[in-house]
Amino acid sequence: TRHLLGIKGLTESDIQLVFETADNFKEVLNRPIKKVPSLRDITIANVFFENSTRTKLSFELAEKRLSADVVNFASGSSSVKKGETLIDTVNNILAMKVDMVVMRHSSPGAPHFLSRHIRANIINAGDGTHEHPTQALLDAFSIRERLGDVAGKKVAIIGDILHSRVALSNIFCLQKLGAEVMVCGPLTLMPRHVAALGVKVEHDVFKALQWCDVANVLRIQMERQQIKYFPSLREYSLYYGINRRLLNRLNKEIVIMHPGPINRGVELNSDVADSENAIILQQVENGVAVRMAVLYLLASVK
Ligand code: CP
Repeated sequence: TRHLLGIKGLTESDIQLVFETADNFKEVLNRPIKKVPSLRDITIANVFFENSTRTKLSFELAEKRLSADVVNFASGSSSVKKGETLIDTVNNILAMKVDMVVMRHSSPGAPHFLSRHIRANIINAGDGTHEHPTQALLDAFSIRERLGDVAGKKVAIIGDILHSRVALSNIFCLQKLGAEVMVCGPLTLMPRHVAALGVKVEHDVFKALQWCDVANVLRIQMERQQIKYFPSLREYSLYYGINRRLLNRLNKEIVIMHPGPINRGVELNSDVADSENAIILQQVENGVAVRMAVLYLLASVK
């Protein structure tokens, strides 16, 4: 495939190829000279219609480490504000001879739409509540790094499953790699037919933590909620917030993950987020190597 639109369309061997390629790039990133010439003739546009810290900087660094030429577009300071359409915006960027587009958009399916209308390689950097494929790849890569393998591991995804593209991409990715997946959260933040995806569903966070080897903790996506704040942040932190006291009751160690940004004191307390159990900053570190792998592999497909 020329594009990375979601995890759904990938095979297990596609994912393993990304991991093996990322292993090599991670080794490169630990060298004194972190740059390789692989994408010297490639120009990449990072087109972000939604806010981002990690994904945007991580893609930009990955592109620069691969020696690509990089242009950045943020919709808030662009001519989108004057009414220019998505397709016109991207076609104008491509007219400047851009080869690859990394795009984040609030509408589910926006990168899929684009891939049918333009010639460049498209990488989905998050489309609304739909998918965030590179996040799922870096999450699974980080589990593999910490626990040796993803197959056979029990992963609980805890939080606002309903509005989370990270949850959906993680479910697809972890299942393809042979992990068992549970989703946990309040009924109001759970998609109605989520069990049809082959995941266990749990509403009691302590039971989810007792079951799992890895807890991937998500924030409440308030920007996507139709009914504001139900449960309220205070209620959510009371019933679902993960703190050291809760983990101490488990009598086992589990790995804590979070895609960021963390709402400290809501879904995760600092005594967990900053502890040895947490691999949150390792996820961010791995994001650069994983995105280098994705860019490198796609650039060879025209
Ligand atoms: N994890 C993640 O996508 O973070 P950003 O929204 O900051 O890119």
